[in-house]
Amino acid sequence: MWRGRLVRAALRGGAGGAGGSRGASGAAAAQLRRRLEGELEGIRGAGTWKSERVIASRQGPHLRLAGGGAGILNFCANNYLGLSSHPEVIRAGVWTLEQFGAGLSSVRFICGTQSIHKDLEEKISRFHQREDAILYASCFDANAGIFEALLTPEDAVLSDELNHASIIDGIRLCKANKYRYRHMDMQDLEAKLQDAQKHRLRLVATDGAFSMDGDIAPLKEICRLAEKYEALVFIDECHATGFLGPNGRGTDELLGVMDKVTIINSTLGKALGGAAGGYTTGPKPLIDLLRQRSRPYLFSNSLPPAVVGCASKALDLLMESNAIAQSMAAKTQRFRSKMTAAGFTISGQDHPICPVMLGDAQLAAVMADDMLSRGIYVIGFSYPVVPKGKARIRVQISAVHSDEDIDRCVEAFTEVGRKHGALP
Ligand SMILES: Cc1ncc(COP(=O)(O)O)c(C=O)c1O
Repeated sequence: MWRGRLVRAALRGGAGGAGGSRGASGAAAAQLRRRLEGELEGIRGAGTWKSERVIASRQGPHLRLAGGGAGILNFCANNYLGLSSHPEVIRAGVWTLEQFGAGLSSVRFICGTQSIHKDLEEKISRFHQREDAILYASCFDANAGIFEALLTPEDAVLSDELNHASIIDGIRLCKANKYRYRHMDMQDLEAKLQDAQKHRLRLVATDGAFSMDGDIAPLKEICRLAEKYEALVFIDECHATGFLGPNGRGTDELLGVMDKVTIINSTLGKALGGAAGGYTTGPKPLIDLLRQRSRPYLFSNSLPPAVVGCASKALDLLMESNAIAQSMAAKTQRFRSKMTAAGFTISGQDHPICPVMLGDAQLAAVMADDMLSRGIYVIGFSYPVVPKGKARIRVQISAVHSDEDIDRCVEAFTEVGRKHGALP
C-alpha cells in the first residue's frame, strides 16, 4: 500500500523518489509516464486494446460475470474436458493442500521437491509413454527453458512461423542457428532441412495444434522429413494433451507417430484441470539435463501442492477412461456440422477450437458483443492477433457443454449473423 503510494508519487513526478535524488528521478519518472501514456493511446487508437471481463464464479460452461450477468454460456475457455471445476479434481486439490501445505517456498533442487512432484512427473511420462518428465510453473517456462539448455551454436532449430509466442521466445534465448518455415509448408521445411544439414543437430519445433486456426500440424510428414534429414521433432501439445487421439494422448497419438516425436512440452493449465503448470516429457538424459541447466526450472519456485493434486487427479481420470475425451469430440462434431449447415465457415480440422471466419474486424467485434447480449460468451480476434482480413470469432467446445448449450450457441450465431449481414 505504502509502496504503491510511493511508486504512484514517483510516476507523477512528485515527492517520494528514493535516495534523495528526487529532482532527477522525478523528471525521469514523468518522462516515463508520458511515454507509457503515449504507447497506451497508440494501442487504443489501433483498436487492439484487450479488456478483461471479470468472472464471479468457477470456470465452467455456465458463468456468472461480475456486475450481474448470470447464466452466461461460456465458449471461450481452454477447459476442453471440463475438468477445471470437476468435483474430484477440486477434492484432490483440497486434500493435497491440506496434506502438503500451500507451497514450498523453494526451488526444486534446494528443498522444493515433494513426493507428489515425483509422482506427477512419473504419471505424465506414463501418460505420454515417454521415459521421464520434468515440471515447470507453466508451459511458457517449459518452452523458455528447453531450447537454450539443449541447443548450442553448432545446432539448428527449424520452427513453424505460426508457433506460439513462448516457443518463439524460447528459441530467441538459444544460440542455435534459426530457421523459420512457412506455416505447415512441408516443401519449405524440406528446403530448410537441406540447408541445415551443415549443422550438428537439427530440431524441428511445432505446435501440435495451432490455437488461432484449430489446425493440426502434419506430424506424419514432419516425422518423415525428420527421419530423412536426421532431425529431432519437438511438439507443443497445449491444445492437444488430454483430448486429441483415441485415448487423448495428443497429436502424436492422433497421427500415429508417438514413437517418432522425441520431445513434448505441454500445459496443466488447459485440459488437465486448468490450474497452472507445464512440463517437458521425453528421453531421460534430456530431462536430467533440464534439471541441471534449464533456467526457468532452476530459478523459480516449485509447483504448489494444490496445483499438483488437481493435475494428478485429472490425469487419473483420463487414464481410467477415454469417455470424457470422446464426449468432447462428439460435441465438437455437433457444433462444426450445425454451423457449417447454417452457412458459416469454420476453420481447422475436427478440433474443439472452432474459429468462425468472418473476415472483417469490425464485424467480428460487433457480433461477439451481440452474442454476449444474448448470453453467449465468445471472443472476436482480429489483426494483429490474426492476419489482416481474417478476423474471426473463436469458439471453444468443452466436454461439459450439453447438446442444448451447443444448439443455443448455433441459434444465437445464426440470428446475429443474419442481423449483421454475415449470413444471407
Ligand atoms: C501453444 C501454447 N504453448 C504454450 C502456452 C503457455 O502455456 P501456460 O499457460 O502453461 O504457460 C500456451 C498458452 O496459451 C499455448 O497456447
